[in-house]
Amino acid sequence: MAAFRALGLAPWLTAQAEQLGLTRPTPVQEACIPPALQGRDCMGCAKTGSGKTAAFVLPILQKLSEDPYGIFCLVLTPTRELAYQIAEQFRVLGKPLGLKDCIIVGGMDMVAQALELSRKPHVVIATPGRLADHLRSSSTFSLQKIKFLVLDEADRLLEQGCTDFTHDLEVILAAVPTNRQTLLFSATLTDTLTELKQIAMNKPFFWESPSEVRTVEELDQRYLLVPEKVKDAYLVHLVQTYQDEHEDWSIIIFTNTCKNCQVLNMMLKKFNFPSVALHSMMKQKQRFAALAKFKSSVYKILIATDVAARGLDIPTVQVVINHNTPGLPKIYIHRVGRTARAGRHGVAITLVTQYDIHLVHAIEEQIKMKLQEFSVEEQSVLNILTQVNVVRRECEIRLEATDFDEKKEINKRKQMILEGKDPDLEKQRKAELAKIRKKNGEFRSRVQQTLQEKKQLQLRRKLQKKMRRKQKQQPVAAK
Ligand SMILES: Nc1ncnc2c1ncn2[C@@H]1O[C@H](COP(=O)(O)OP(=O)(O)OP(=O)(O)O)[C@@H](O)[C@H]1O
Ligand SMILES: [Mg+2]
Repeated sequence: MAAFRALGLAPWLTAQAEQLGLTRPTPVQEACIPPALQGRDCMGCAKTGSGKTAAFVLPILQKLSEDPYGIFCLVLTPTRELAYQIAEQFRVLGKPLGLKDCIIVGGMDMVAQALELSRKPHVVIATPGRLADHLRSSSTFSLQKIKFLVLDEADRLLEQGCTDFTHDLEVILAAVPTNRQTLLFSATLTDTLTELKQIAMNKPFFWESPSEVRTVEELDQRYLLVPEKVKDAYLVHLVQTYQDEHEDWSIIIFTNTCKNCQVLNMMLKKFNFPSVALHSMMKQKQRFAALAKFKSSVYKILIATDVAARGLDIPTVQVVINHNTPGLPKIYIHRVGRTARAGRHGVAITLVTQYDIHLVHAIEEQIKMKLQEFSVEEQSVLNILTQVNVVRRECEIRLEATDFDEKKEINKRKQMILEGKDPDLEKQRKAELAKIRKKNGEFRSRVQQTLQEKKQLQLRRKLQKKMRRKQKQQPVAAK
C-alpha cells in the first residue's frame, strides 16, 4: 500500500487500487507512474499480464482529480473488446471521482456514441476507425483540450497489418493538441520505436522490462510436431485430455482465419465440448456475448482469431493452444500472453506442422528461449483420427451451405464504402491491376527468354570460334 503511495499517488486512489487487489506496484507501474505524474511522456514495454493498464490509468485518474473536465483523456486501442476492458478499469478505479467514460468502437450505434461524446465524458476509450469516422462527420465534440493521449498496444496501432490504422491515426492526431502528455504501452514496442517517438515527441521516458526472455517465467511453452492432415485430431485429443484431467480449466485456441475459427467451433461442439468462437466476422453483440460466456466460465473453450491475441485479461485461462503456428514472433508473444498473467502459471502449446519449423525457430530467436516438446499418446490420436476428419468435413459442408463467404464479401464492400471507395470501381481496378501485372510478368519472362537466347547464341558462337581455332591448330600440331 505504502509503495503505491510512495509513487506519488493520492490516498483515495491507493485505497481504491487496494480494493481491487492492487496492493504493491508491479515493475512497470513503479517505473512509469512517477514520470507520468511529473508530466512526462512515457513509453512502457513490459511483458504480457504485468499491469500496464493500471500504469496509465492510475496517474491519469490522479491528474483528472486535480483538474476535472471533459474530454480530459483519450485512449486508443486496436480492438473493441479491449476498449471495453480498459473502460472497466477506468470505471472501477475512478469510481470515487464519479468518472464519466465513453466507449467509441465500431459495430455499435454511431448516433448514440455522438450523443455521448457531446456530453463531454472525462475519458474516451476508442478504436481508431470509429473515432476517426466521428471526427470526419461531426463537430459536436472536440479533442482539442485533452491532457492525455494513450496508445495501448501502441505498436499494433502503428502497424500496417490487415487492419491498417495509419489513416485513422492521422485524422485523430490532427484533432488532438500538441501540448498533451502521451503514454504508449505494449509488450512488444521495440521494433516500432522510431515511429512511436514521432507521437511521443516530448522527450519520452522509456522503460523496458530488464529480462532478456520476452515471455513470462510462469509460462510453460511447448510445441507439438504434427502432420498437417491430423492437426484437428491432435486438437480434439488435447482438449479431451484437459477436460478429463482438470476440474477447473479454461482454454483459448487461436487459429488463423475467421472461417477456420467457425469450423473448429462447430467441430468441437459436435464433440460436446463447451466452446464459443470470437472473430471479426461475427456481429459485435455476438462477440461480446461469446466473451462474456467464456469469462464467466460457462463455456470453457474460446476459439479465436488474432482479434483476441492482445490485451485481453481473463485470469481463469490456464492453457493457450496455437492451432496454427503464428507467422510473426510478436503475435506468438501476445497470444501466449493470454495465460500466465499477473504471476499465475499457464501452459502454451503450439501445433507445428512440417511447413512451420522455420517459424518456430524465428519465435525462439525472438523470445530468447527454446520451446519444449509436448508429448502425447499417439495411439489415442490415431483412434479418433477418422472420426475427427469426418466431423470436420461435415462442418465445412454445413458452413459452405450458409452465407459465411458471402457475408465476408459484403463486409469487405461495407468497409470500402466506409473508406469512401466504390467497391465496384475497386473490383474493376483490381482486375485491371491483375491484368497489368500479368502482362508485365509475361513481358519480363519474354525479355528474360530473349536474354537467355542471346547468351546461348553468344556462347555457341564462342564455342564455334574455339572449335575452329582448334581445328586450325590441329593439322599444324599433326605435322
Ligand atoms: N499491482 C498489481 N498487483 C496485482 N495485480 C495487478 C497489479 N496491477 C495489475 N494487476 C492485475 O494484473 C492483470 C494484468 O494486468 P493488465 O491487463 O494491465 O496487463 P498488461 O500488462 O496490460 O498485459 P497485456 O500485455 O496482455 O495487455 C490484471 O488482472 C490486473 O488487475
Ligand atoms: Mg494491456
